[in-house]
Amino acid sequence: NIIDAKGLHVLPGMIDDQVHFREPGFTHKADIRTESMAAVAGGITSFMDMPNTYPNTLTQDLLEQKYQIAEHSSLANYSFFMGISQSNLEEALKTDLENVCGLTDDGLYFDNDQGIMANHPEFLEKLFKRSPHIITLHSESDAIIAKNTEQFIDKYGLDIPPSAHAEIRSEAACLATTNQILELAKKHQNRLHIYHISTAKEAFLLDAGSDVKSKRITGEACIHHLWFSADDYERLGFKIKWNPSVKSELNRQELLRAVKDNYIDIFATDHAPHTLAEKQGNYFESMSGGPLVQHALVALLEFYHQGVFSLETIVNKSAHKVADLYRLRNRGYLKEGYYADLCLVNLNKPWKVIDANSFYKCGWTPFVNTSFKSRIETTFVNGIIVYNNGHFNTSTKGNRLMFEKDRFN
Ligand code: DOR
Repeated sequence: NIIDAKGLHVLPGMIDDQVHFREPGFTHKADIRTESMAAVAGGITSFMDMPNTYPNTLTQDLLEQKYQIAEHSSLANYSFFMGISQSNLEEALKTDLENVCGLTDDGLYFDNDQGIMANHPEFLEKLFKRSPHIITLHSESDAIIAKNTEQFIDKYGLDIPPSAHAEIRSEAACLATTNQILELAKKHQNRLHIYHISTAKEAFLLDAGSDVKSKRITGEACIHHLWFSADDYERLGFKIKWNPSVKSELNRQELLRAVKDNYIDIFATDHAPHTLAEKQGNYFESMSGGPLVQHALVALLEFYHQGVFSLETIVNKSAHKVADLYRLRNRGYLKEGYYADLCLVNLNKPWKVIDANSFYKCGWTPFVNTSFKSRIETTFVNGIIVYNNGHFNTSTKGNRLMFEKDRFN
C-alpha cells in the first residue's frame, strides 16, 4: 500500500511513561481500550500505566492481570508499573526487569493512607538499598500540604477556591521532598526518575545534559504544567486540579526553560481521567487529574509554532529519550517490515477541540475550545495503521514493551 504523506511530517510515536487508564477497578472513568484509542488518535504509540487501579497493583499476580487485559484490548504498545507501598517491598522486588517498566508509588497514597512514599525515608532507604529497578516517585511533602490546608480551611472553610490549590500543594511542598529523595538516591547510586515535576526550582536541582543513558537521576515534565498556569484557574476551575498542582505563570515559563536547557529529560501526560461529576464540589470533593493523551503531542507542537521548542526537542523528549531512559529494547524487524511506531502530522491544519472530536471515555477535556495548528492524521503501531483521520483500526493490538537486560548496571 502506498501512503501519500505529501506535505506531512513523519514523527516517532510518543512514548508516554505516565498514564492512568483506570482498568481494572475504575472503568466508569476510562478503560484500556478507550484510552488507548484516544492515545493513538493523539500520536501516542506506547504507554506505561500506573498502579492506582483497583485493586492496587501491589502483587505480581495483579500486575500480570493487567498485561492480560491489555493484550486483548490495547491499540497501543504497553507496560505496567509495579506499585510500591510499605506493605509490599519483597513482592515489588520480584518484578522482572526485562518485562516491566519500573516501580512506582504514583497515586497509591490515595488509597492506603500511608502518604506519599517519598515522605517515608526509612522505607525508601530499604527500597533504594535493594532495588535494581528504575524507581519513579511522586515528590510532594505531606506535612507541608497538611499545614497549608489547615491555614486555608481557617480562611475559607471547605470551599477553598480552585485558585488556592496551587498554594496548598505549594512550591515549597514539592521542593522539600524532591531534595530529600535526591539525596537518598545519590547515596545509594539508584536509578531514580522524578515524574511530573511542576516547579522550576525542582528541575534546576537535577543535572543538565542530554545523555539520559549516563544519568542516574532523571526528571520529567507533564503537558499540563507546561501549558496551564494559575491564571487559568478562574476560567477552568477544578478541571485543572492536578497533583502536583498547576503553579504560577512565572513558574511555567521557568519550567519551559528547564526543558530547553535539558534539566528536564522527557515529557509525559499523567493522563488521569475522572468523570465531570467527580471533578465537582468543594476542594476536597473534586478529584485531581484530567484526560490528556489525545491532546499532548499537538499541544507540544503548539510550542514549536510559538518558537518555544524545536521539533527535535519535541521528538527527543516525547520518544527517543523516553526509550533511552527506560532502556526500551530494540525489537528488530518483523517478517514483513519494521516495528514502526510513527505518526503522520500536518503541522498546518488548524482545528478546534470540541467534546465531539474527543475520544476520552470521561467525555470532557480541559482543552475544550482550544485551537491547535497541528493535526495528527495517521498513526502506525508496529507498522500497522491504527488510526487514520478520525477512524480506528480496532482489529490490531499493541505489544508488551520489553526492556534491556541488566538495564541500569
Ligand atoms: O492529579 C493526579 N491524579 N495526580 C496523580 O498523581 C494521580 C492522578 C490520579 O490517579 O487521579
